[in-house]
Amino acid sequence: MTNQEVINYICEKLNAKNPSHNKKIAKSFICYLKNISINDLYTSLYEKCNLNINKIDKLIKKINKSIPLEYLINEKYFLNNKFYVNKNVLIPRPETEEMVLEALSFLKTQSINKKINVFDICTGSGNIAISIAKNYKANIYASDISFKVLKVARKNAKDLGANNITFLKGDFLKPFIKLNLKGDLIIINPPYISSKDRSVDYSTKNYEPKKALFTETGLEFYNIFFQNYHKIINNEGIIFLEFGYEQKKPIYDLMEKYICLNKINYKFFKDTNKKDRFLFISLKNNI
Ligand SMILES: C[S@@+](CC[C@H](N)C(=O)[O-])C[C@H]1O[C@@H](n2cnc3c(N)ncnc32)[C@H](O)[C@@H]1O
Repeated sequence: MTNQEVINYICEKLNAKNPSHNKKIAKSFICYLKNISINDLYTSLYEKCNLNINKIDKLIKKINKSIPLEYLINEKYFLNNKFYVNKNVLIPRPETEEMVLEALSFLKTQSINKKINVFDICTGSGNIAISIAKNYKANIYASDISFKVLKVARKNAKDLGANNITFLKGDFLKPFIKLNLKGDLIIINPPYISSKDRSVDYSTKNYEPKKALFTETGLEFYNIFFQNYHKIINNEGIIFLEFGYEQKKPIYDLMEKYICLNKINYKFFKDTNKKDRFLFISLKNNI
Protein backbone atom coordinates (compact mmCIF):
# COMPACT_ATOMS: atom_id res chain seq x y z
CA MET A 1 0.00 0.00 0.00
CA THR A 2 1.12 3.58 -0.61
CA ASN A 3 1.11 6.14 2.19
CA GLN A 4 -2.10 7.61 0.74
CA GLU A 5 -3.75 4.18 0.73
CA VAL A 6 -2.73 3.64 4.35
CA ILE A 7 -4.27 7.02 5.23
CA ASN A 8 -7.53 5.87 3.60
CA TYR A 9 -7.30 2.48 5.37
CA ILE A 10 -6.93 4.15 8.80
CA CYS A 11 -9.75 6.64 8.12
CA GLU A 12 -12.12 3.82 7.23
CA LYS A 13 -11.34 1.91 10.42
CA LEU A 14 -11.74 4.82 12.80
CA ASN A 15 -15.04 4.83 14.70
CA ALA A 16 -15.53 8.58 14.72
CA LYS A 17 -16.91 9.85 11.43
CA ASN A 18 -15.16 13.17 11.26
CA PRO A 19 -13.25 13.04 7.96
CA SER A 20 -10.83 15.92 8.54
CA HIS A 21 -10.06 14.83 12.12
CA ASN A 22 -9.60 11.21 11.00
CA LYS A 23 -7.19 12.27 8.27
CA LYS A 24 -5.20 14.17 10.86
CA ILE A 25 -5.04 11.06 13.07
CA ALA A 26 -4.05 8.86 10.13
CA LYS A 27 -1.24 11.19 9.11
CA SER A 28 -0.02 11.46 12.72
CA PHE A 29 0.12 7.67 13.02
CA ILE A 30 2.17 7.30 9.85
CA CYS A 31 4.58 10.11 10.81
CA TYR A 32 4.95 8.62 14.28
CA LEU A 33 5.55 5.04 13.11
CA LYS A 34 7.93 6.07 10.32
CA ASN A 35 9.54 8.81 12.42
CA ILE A 36 9.12 11.35 9.62
CA SER A 37 7.77 14.89 9.53
CA ILE A 38 4.39 15.83 8.08
CA ASN A 39 6.21 17.53 5.19
CA ASP A 40 8.09 14.29 4.44
CA LEU A 41 4.74 12.52 4.38
CA TYR A 42 3.21 15.05 1.97
CA THR A 43 6.09 14.62 -0.45
CA SER A 44 5.85 10.82 -0.34
CA LEU A 45 2.07 10.22 -0.45
CA TYR A 46 2.30 7.92 -3.46
CA GLU A 47 5.35 6.00 -2.33
CA LYS A 48 5.18 2.55 -0.75
CA CYS A 49 4.34 2.80 2.96
CA ASN A 50 6.24 -0.24 4.26
CA LEU A 51 4.60 -0.17 7.67
CA ASN A 52 3.52 -3.22 9.62
CA ILE A 53 -0.28 -3.21 9.39
CA ASN A 54 -0.57 -4.92 12.83
CA LYS A 55 1.10 -1.93 14.45
CA ILE A 56 -1.34 0.38 12.70
CA ASP A 57 -4.33 -1.76 13.74
CA LYS A 58 -3.18 -1.62 17.38
CA LEU A 59 -3.10 2.18 17.29
CA ILE A 60 -6.52 2.30 15.62
CA LYS A 61 -7.93 0.08 18.38
CA LYS A 62 -6.58 2.44 21.02
CA ILE A 63 -7.92 5.57 19.36
CA ASN A 64 -11.30 3.85 18.99
CA LYS A 65 -11.23 3.38 22.78
CA SER A 66 -10.86 7.19 23.07
CA ILE A 67 -7.24 7.11 24.22
CA PRO A 68 -5.98 10.61 23.34
CA LEU A 69 -3.93 10.77 20.13
CA GLU A 70 -1.27 12.79 21.97
CA TYR A 71 -0.52 9.89 24.33
CA LEU A 72 -0.29 7.44 21.42
CA ILE A 73 2.20 9.51 19.47
CA ASN A 74 3.82 11.06 22.57
CA GLU A 75 3.66 14.62 21.36
CA LYS A 76 1.73 17.85 21.65
CA TYR A 77 2.63 21.21 20.17
CA PHE A 78 2.43 24.15 22.56
CA LEU A 79 3.29 27.62 21.22
CA ASN A 80 5.08 26.04 18.25
CA ASN A 81 7.30 23.77 20.31
CA LYS A 82 6.91 20.01 20.27
CA PHE A 83 6.48 18.67 23.81
CA TYR A 84 6.88 15.03 24.76
CA VAL A 85 3.79 13.85 26.66
CA ASN A 86 2.84 10.56 28.26
CA LYS A 87 0.00 9.35 30.46
CA ASN A 88 1.56 10.93 33.55
CA VAL A 89 1.09 14.50 32.34
CA LEU A 90 -1.86 16.61 31.32
CA ILE A 91 -1.99 17.28 27.58
CA PRO A 92 -1.29 21.02 27.30
CA ARG A 93 -4.34 22.99 26.16
CA PRO A 94 -4.60 25.88 23.69
CA GLU A 95 -6.27 28.08 26.36
CA THR A 96 -3.10 27.85 28.41
CA GLU A 97 -1.16 29.10 25.39
CA GLU A 98 -3.30 32.24 25.58
CA MET A 99 -2.35 32.81 29.22
CA VAL A 100 1.36 32.33 28.49
CA LEU A 101 1.17 34.78 25.57
CA GLU A 102 -0.49 37.35 27.87
CA ALA A 103 2.26 36.84 30.45
CA LEU A 104 4.99 37.20 27.82
CA SER A 105 3.51 40.32 26.30
CA PHE A 106 3.13 41.81 29.78
CA LEU A 107 6.80 41.07 30.54
CA LYS A 108 7.89 42.63 27.27
CA THR A 109 6.12 45.92 28.04
CA GLN A 110 7.87 46.30 31.38
CA SER A 111 11.20 48.00 31.75
CA ILE A 112 12.73 45.61 34.22
CA ASN A 113 16.38 46.12 34.95
CA LYS A 114 17.09 42.94 36.87
CA LYS A 115 16.80 39.26 35.99
CA ILE A 116 13.43 38.35 37.41
CA ASN A 117 12.28 35.13 39.11
CA VAL A 118 9.47 33.28 37.34
CA PHE A 119 7.59 30.48 39.10
CA ASP A 120 5.54 27.96 37.12
CA ILE A 121 3.74 26.07 39.86
CA CYS A 122 2.05 22.74 38.90
CA THR A 123 4.25 22.54 35.80
CA GLY A 124 3.10 19.23 34.26
CA SER A 125 5.00 18.70 30.98
CA GLY A 126 6.82 21.99 31.63
CA ASN A 127 4.96 23.69 28.79
CA ILE A 128 4.51 27.02 30.58
CA ALA A 129 8.01 27.30 32.10
CA ILE A 130 9.73 26.19 28.90
CA SER A 131 7.70 28.52 26.69
CA ILE A 132 8.64 31.44 28.93
CA ALA A 133 12.27 30.32 29.08
CA LYS A 134 12.48 30.27 25.29
CA ASN A 135 11.15 33.80 24.97
CA TYR A 136 12.39 35.67 28.01
CA LYS A 137 15.58 35.74 30.03
CA ALA A 138 14.69 34.98 33.65
CA ASN A 139 15.50 32.68 36.54
CA ILE A 140 12.75 30.13 36.12
CA TYR A 141 11.54 27.67 38.75
CA ALA A 142 9.02 24.98 37.86
CA SER A 143 7.44 22.69 40.42
CA ASP A 144 5.15 19.70 40.59
CA ILE A 145 4.08 17.19 43.23
CA SER A 146 4.93 14.19 41.08
CA PHE A 147 8.35 12.74 40.34
CA LYS A 148 7.06 11.06 37.14
CA VAL A 149 5.65 14.38 35.92
CA LEU A 150 8.91 16.19 36.63
CA LYS A 151 10.79 13.54 34.64
CA VAL A 152 8.72 14.53 31.59
CA ALA A 153 9.21 18.27 32.25
CA ARG A 154 12.98 17.81 32.61
CA LYS A 155 13.11 15.82 29.37
CA ASN A 156 11.21 18.58 27.55
CA ALA A 157 13.48 21.28 28.97
CA LYS A 158 16.54 19.34 27.78
CA ASP A 159 15.10 18.50 24.34
CA LEU A 160 13.95 22.08 23.77
CA GLY A 161 17.16 23.67 25.02
CA ALA A 162 15.61 25.49 27.99
CA ASN A 163 18.59 25.27 30.32
CA ASN A 164 17.69 28.00 32.78
CA ILE A 165 14.93 26.15 34.66
CA THR A 166 15.26 24.82 38.20
CA PHE A 167 12.79 22.02 38.89
CA LEU A 168 11.41 21.56 42.38
CA LYS A 169 9.39 18.64 43.65
CA GLY A 170 6.80 19.32 46.31
CA ASP A 171 3.32 20.24 47.38
CA PHE A 172 2.09 23.46 45.72
CA LEU A 173 3.63 26.52 47.45
CA LYS A 174 5.62 24.55 50.02
CA PRO A 175 8.93 24.11 48.13
CA PHE A 176 9.05 27.87 47.47
CA ILE A 177 8.23 28.74 51.08
CA LYS A 178 10.79 26.23 52.36
CA LEU A 179 13.56 27.71 50.18
CA ASN A 180 12.37 31.27 50.90
CA LEU A 181 12.12 31.95 47.16
CA LYS A 182 10.25 35.05 45.99
CA GLY A 183 8.79 35.32 42.53
CA ASP A 184 8.34 38.37 40.30
CA LEU A 185 5.99 36.46 37.99
CA ILE A 186 3.98 33.55 39.32
CA ILE A 187 1.98 31.59 36.81
CA ILE A 188 -0.24 28.66 37.79
CA ASN A 189 -2.57 26.27 36.06
CA PRO A 190 -3.56 24.07 39.00
CA PRO A 191 -5.99 21.14 39.09
CA TYR A 192 -9.37 22.93 39.15
CA ILE A 193 -12.14 20.54 38.17
CA SER A 194 -14.53 19.43 40.87
CA SER A 195 -14.63 15.64 41.20
CA LYS A 196 -18.42 15.99 41.01
CA ASP A 197 -18.30 17.66 37.59
CA ARG A 198 -20.14 15.41 35.13
CA SER A 199 -19.36 17.50 32.05
CA VAL A 200 -15.76 16.31 31.67
CA ASP A 201 -15.37 14.39 28.43
CA TYR A 202 -14.82 10.62 28.47
CA SER A 203 -11.32 10.69 27.05
CA THR A 204 -10.04 13.30 29.53
CA LYS A 205 -11.75 11.66 32.48
CA ASN A 206 -10.52 8.18 31.73
CA TYR A 207 -7.05 8.72 30.34
CA GLU A 208 -5.57 11.97 31.62
CA PRO A 209 -4.02 11.97 35.12
CA LYS A 210 -6.67 12.55 37.79
CA LYS A 211 -4.13 14.35 39.96
CA ALA A 212 -3.69 16.95 37.23
CA LEU A 213 -7.40 17.61 36.89
CA PHE A 214 -9.55 17.01 39.92
CA THR A 215 -9.93 18.16 43.48
CA GLU A 216 -12.99 17.83 45.65
CA THR A 217 -14.50 21.25 44.98
CA GLY A 218 -12.12 22.49 42.26
CA LEU A 219 -11.21 25.52 44.39
CA GLU A 220 -8.77 24.12 46.94
CA PHE A 221 -5.61 25.33 45.21
CA TYR A 222 -6.91 28.91 44.85
CA ASN A 223 -7.96 28.90 48.49
CA ILE A 224 -4.45 27.94 49.59
CA PHE A 225 -2.91 30.35 47.08
CA PHE A 226 -4.79 33.47 48.18
CA GLN A 227 -4.03 32.74 51.83
CA ASN A 228 -0.33 32.22 51.26
CA TYR A 229 0.78 33.93 48.03
CA HIS A 230 2.42 36.79 49.98
CA LYS A 231 5.01 34.30 51.28
CA ILE A 232 6.36 33.60 47.78
CA ILE A 233 6.09 36.91 45.91
CA ASN A 234 8.24 40.02 45.63
CA ASN A 235 6.79 43.47 46.40
CA GLU A 236 5.80 44.36 42.86
CA GLY A 237 5.19 40.84 41.65
CA ILE A 238 2.55 39.73 39.18
CA ILE A 239 0.39 36.63 39.04
CA PHE A 240 -1.42 34.78 36.27
CA LEU A 241 -3.91 32.08 37.22
CA GLU A 242 -5.94 29.79 34.98
CA PHE A 243 -9.33 28.55 36.18
CA GLY A 244 -12.46 26.79 34.91
CA TYR A 245 -15.00 28.68 32.83
CA GLU A 246 -17.60 28.69 35.61
CA GLN A 247 -15.24 29.68 38.41
CA LYS A 248 -14.88 33.46 37.99
CA LYS A 249 -17.31 34.26 40.83
CA PRO A 250 -15.93 31.81 43.42
CA ILE A 251 -12.38 32.84 42.52
CA TYR A 252 -13.30 36.52 42.94
CA ASP A 253 -14.91 35.74 46.31
CA LEU A 254 -11.80 33.93 47.52
CA MET A 255 -9.54 36.74 46.33
CA GLU A 256 -11.73 39.34 48.07
CA LYS A 257 -11.76 37.30 51.26
CA TYR A 258 -7.97 37.13 51.55
CA ILE A 259 -6.57 40.11 49.66
CA CYS A 260 -7.12 43.80 50.27
CA LEU A 261 -8.38 44.62 46.78
CA ASN A 262 -7.61 48.32 46.81
CA LYS A 263 -3.92 47.57 47.30
CA ILE A 264 -3.60 45.59 44.07
CA ASN A 265 -4.57 45.69 40.41
CA TYR A 266 -6.41 42.74 39.00
CA LYS A 267 -8.15 41.81 35.80
CA PHE A 268 -10.14 38.79 34.73
CA PHE A 269 -9.78 37.96 31.07
CA LYS A 270 -11.40 35.60 28.63
CA ASP A 271 -10.11 32.94 26.27
CA THR A 272 -10.79 33.05 22.52
CA ASN A 273 -14.10 31.23 23.14
CA LYS A 274 -15.14 34.30 25.16
CA LYS A 275 -15.14 32.36 28.42
CA ASP A 276 -13.67 33.80 31.62
CA ARG A 277 -10.59 31.70 32.17
CA PHE A 278 -7.75 33.76 33.59
CA LEU A 279 -6.96 36.14 36.42
CA PHE A 280 -4.11 38.61 36.31
CA ILE A 281 -3.01 40.25 39.56
CA SER A 282 -0.37 42.92 39.96
CA LEU A 283 0.88 43.97 43.37
CA LYS A 284 2.25 47.11 41.75
CA ASN A 285 -0.51 49.62 42.29
CA ASN A 286 0.09 51.79 39.25
CA ILE A 287 -0.52 49.60 36.20
C1 LIG B 1 -3.77 21.25 35.31
S1 LIG B 1 -2.21 20.44 35.34
C2 LIG B 1 -1.23 21.72 34.62
C3 LIG B 1 -0.09 21.21 33.81
C4 LIG B 1 0.62 22.28 32.99
N1 LIG B 1 1.08 23.38 33.83
C5 LIG B 1 -0.29 22.85 31.92
O1 LIG B 1 -0.68 24.02 32.04
O2 LIG B 1 -0.63 22.16 30.96
C6 LIG B 1 -1.87 20.48 37.05
C7 LIG B 1 -0.52 19.90 37.50
O3 LIG B 1 -0.49 20.05 38.93
C8 LIG B 1 0.20 18.97 39.50
N2 LIG B 1 -0.21 18.87 40.91
C9 LIG B 1 -1.30 18.27 41.44
N3 LIG B 1 -1.31 18.44 42.77
C10 LIG B 1 -0.23 19.19 43.08
C11 LIG B 1 0.30 19.70 44.30
N4 LIG B 1 -0.32 19.49 45.47
N5 LIG B 1 1.44 20.41 44.26
C12 LIG B 1 2.08 20.63 43.09
N6 LIG B 1 1.65 20.17 41.90
C13 LIG B 1 0.49 19.46 41.90
C14 LIG B 1 -0.20 17.79 38.64
O4 LIG B 1 0.76 16.75 38.76
C15 LIG B 1 -0.28 18.43 37.24
O5 LIG B 1 0.96 18.26 36.58
